[in-house]
Amino acid sequence: MGLYSTVMDEITFHTGLSPTAFFTIATLMLFVYRTVSSMFVSPQDYNKPPVVSARFGSRFEVDEPVKEPVQVGEITEPELRLYNGSDPSKPLLLSVKGQIYDVSSARNFYGPGGSYAMFAGKECSRALALLSFKPDDFNGNLEGLDESELAILEDWEYKFIEKYPKVGQLVQEQRTQQIEHSQEDISNPNEHQE
Ligand code: HEM
Repeated sequence: MGLYSTVMDEITFHTGLSPTAFFTIATLMLFVYRTVSSMFVSPQDYNKPPVVSARFGSRFEVDEPVKEPVQVGEITEPELRLYNGSDPSKPLLLSVKGQIYDVSSARNFYGPGGSYAMFAGKECSRALALLSFKPDDFNGNLEGLDESELAILEDWEYKFIEKYPKVGQLVQEQRTQQIEHSQEDISNPNEHQE
């Protein structure tokens, strides 16, 4: 009891405050400190890879780190469609002017439920040039676009080059089939000779 009253007397002596006022102010300061410091990232955490939610695609839901981009090489439009976010284990990819970008770091835009989810898994050049969300405009056909529309597309292209890793190129379906056929010919040279 003696120690308790000595501590209380010391608090009053050194701070000029009653013990109740001292502890109330100390609690408030601790609360303010905790609130403000939670708004900042520690230097150790700053260098860690960014995290996004696999479930909700929100930048505020901390679930699992964004995976390193994987090169997909030359793929066709039907193959690109597999990367539209419906399979959460696959990266989110889209194509601009035939170049494929990994946009997984912006799952909040392009993931399921995102405002730009319709871009994922598609060749988006025509839609971007025309600033259109029409499903028919999600292709690489640049026919009939005027200079200003092509300039808009170029601006988008620069944005994607700057922001996202390039992971492959889009090729015509026909070309892949031709390659498959020519590979069949190489492995089975006698198959087509009757
Ligand atoms: C009412 C019109 C629109 C508004 C207010 C709007 C607003 C926005 C905003 C606020 C962002 C986020 C920017 C950022 O944080 O970097 C964004 C991103 C984006 N917008 Fe729009 N937008 C509009 C129309 C369009 C149209 C017509 C297109 C193309 C067809 C488009 C394509 C995009 C794309 C692709 C992104 C994501 C870019 C990225 O990956 O960083 N937007 N938009």
